[in-house]
Amino acid sequence: MKRIAVFASGEGSNFEAIVAACERGEIAARTVLVVCDRSGARVVEHAAAHGVECFVFSPKKYASKADYERELVARLDDARVELVCLAGYMRILSEVLLAAYGGRIINIHPSLLPAFKGAHALEQAVAYGVKVYGATIHWVDASLDGGKIIAQRAFEYDGDDVEEVTQRMHRIEHALYTETIGRLVGTDPEKRGE
Ligand code: GRF
Repeated sequence: MKRIAVFASGEGSNFEAIVAACERGEIAARTVLVVCDRSGARVVEHAAAHGVECFVFSPKKYASKADYERELVARLDDARVELVCLAGYMRILSEVLLAAYGGRIINIHPSLLPAFKGAHALEQAVAYGVKVYGATIHWVDASLDGGKIIAQRAFEYDGDDVEEVTQRMHRIEHALYTETIGRLVGTDPEKRGE
């Protein structure tokens, strides 16, 4: 059983999908830690509901990014985390986290990278009028959404309703992220009832 941490800043629907996939044996792992940089975020409630330890921090209370990342590395070390899954964590990682956990951090991004990097990928894709959307899972390095791609999945959408495309994106993301993590860490045939 691998030990996973999820970093999130918002809703936490990908966190929920990962926990559920672990329970179903589609991922042979346990989510042992959630890291969140916004105290009011829904993911904090979701973590509590699943009994997953949640470290909530306020970046502003630290003198620098290096300072809070040193704290995050200590939390990851304490929880003996083997894979970090970024899921809506809206911060670029610095050398502190990358030196300690580089090669063990993945991210999900709501575009077919390298198109539409950054925080507003979906809105930008809708404004651009694209007809094929998609999600990307990639290794995390110091660049903005620029690490080596692990998996991508596309879907067609011919409309301009950001809300609607966001819902469709989430369904694709949940399937793609859980399948990809399952490929990386293995599955649990016994729990899957095989
Ligand atoms: C997802 O769309 C992910 O691709 C992006 O942020 C969103 C997080 O959603 N990086 P949630 O918090 O998992 O619901």
